[in-house]
Amino acid sequence: MERRGESQPDRVTVRTLARLKRNQQKIVCLTAYDFPTARLVDESGVDLILVGDSAANVVYGLETTLEIGMEEMLYHTRAVAAAVERALVVADMPFLSYQVSWEQAIANAGRFLKAGAEAVKLEGAGPVVETTRRLVELGIPVMGHLGLTPQSVHKLGGYRLQARKPEEQERLEADARQLEAAGCFALVLEKVPAEVAQRVSAALAIPTIGIGAGPDCDGQVLVLHDLLGLSAGPPLKFVRRYAGLSDEIRRAVAEYAADVRAGRFPGEEHTFHTDEGR
Ligand code: KIV
Repeated sequence: MERRGESQPDRVTVRTLARLKRNQQKIVCLTAYDFPTARLVDESGVDLILVGDSAANVVYGLETTLEIGMEEMLYHTRAVAAAVERALVVADMPFLSYQVSWEQAIANAGRFLKAGAEAVKLEGAGPVVETTRRLVELGIPVMGHLGLTPQSVHKLGGYRLQARKPEEQERLEADARQLEAAGCFALVLEKVPAEVAQRVSAALAIPTIGIGAGPDCDGQVLVLHDLLGLSAGPPLKFVRRYAGLSDEIRRAVAEYAADVRAGRFPGEEHTFHTDEGR
């Protein structure tokens, strides 16, 4: 029987991430939502692939992540897990799949593991700390997420920079320590000042994964569509675009349309005839 992390030494596990932090090596994370992009991201050597609930925004075109549910997230998790051979696959638990009761959180987290994820991500602290502790006790690895937590967008009053005031910074650090004590194997820090992320990263033994949290986190994560230039609108301040795939797709589709309209496609090489060999 093939067991991850044992007979396949190259595969990334939660222990690999802990080792990378100990060795002060940066952890590379990206989101993916489907088979072909997950395969390419995995082949490119990314350490952790997050099936993010940002699928709500970049795949479904929805305004907030509140609108995506368990069934959609399971569907994307299955597709990603089927493609990935090396990276650790983490599934984002969607809004209200873990907040109502820890019993429901356990049942839903279990569905993600059955779909092929190796860990789940939960946003926030407070009651989520106890849920995290129970999941970890049952053998389900949990990644935390603090700072800007998009499922709380209405409470936060928008997608603003978090932990600006000293008391908010103290709260964030205390929450981070509680999540670590509850057994999180890593912690996403989203849209917080670099100085705050640096302090939290130094205070924790588990790796921090930053997005809009400066260069001193133990790793970085971006939404794949932002990095590839597939998202609509100008890039956010914390995003670097490494490709312009929107332009490339528009060019390819326009060329195809022009070829069809001019009778240049299909060509002789794409065409079958009655005398074709079987
Ligand atoms: O849903 C997501 O893509 C995320 C990352 C931005 C961390 O939570």
